[in-house]
Amino acid sequence: MKFFADTANIEEIKQIKRWGLLDGVTTNPTIISRENRPFKEVVMEILNIVDGPVNLEVISTDAEGMVKEAIKLASLAPNVVIKIPMTTEGIMAVKELSSRGIKTNVTLTFSPTQALIAAKAGANYVSPFIGRWDDISNEGMQVVEDILTIFNNYGYTTEIIVASVRHPIHILQAARLGAHIVTAPFKVLEQLFHHPLTDIGLKRFLEDWKKVPNPEL
Ligand code: E4P
Repeated sequence: MKFFADTANIEEIKQIKRWGLLDGVTTNPTIISRENRPFKEVVMEILNIVDGPVNLEVISTDAEGMVKEAIKLASLAPNVVIKIPMTTEGIMAVKELSSRGIKTNVTLTFSPTQALIAAKAGANYVSPFIGRWDDISNEGMQVVEDILTIFNNYGYTTEIIVASVRHPIHILQAARLGAHIVTAPFKVLEQLFHHPLTDIGLKRFLEDWKKVPNPEL
């Protein structure tokens, strides 16, 4: 399973890379705005650090505008993936970008049939937003399960990025289902390392080691 960092914060991205978990990065207008820095400056720094896909979102709402923006963003580096919102205009833009060889990720996907349309248009990635479904008392992960079934039924190679991740259970569920990618905030990726029994166990080992008469090799 690939792990993408759902952040534009440089320190967080560097740390996730040090952990060996950085397969790519996802951003959106909200994530970029949190950094309070010029867009291009942040993006170029991210591109310098990340070897895998770096997802940058368009803000135009018409297909023509999205394509124009996407061409500009894609010219920044070969690993740029363009996030396109799941709308009729968005899907038209995906089709056009796909014919030009520009990689796309259809974002704000909330239903399996939206994902089907995205795959049919030639999207390289589709991002079902799990947490936002859960926030309104629904089973977000069911959407991922359905998308996987549909993509397997028809042999679509579009990869699923499980997005809007809120906690490690989302990552566990995504991995159980065999989703290709999970994108998660720094805090959730960090939580994956921890378990109270690990801390207790390590403490006990280190205390017991002090009782060994001659601990030198
Ligand atoms: C990533 O591609 C999404 O934009 C992001 O995961 C959305 O997360 P949120 O629902 O926490 O804003």
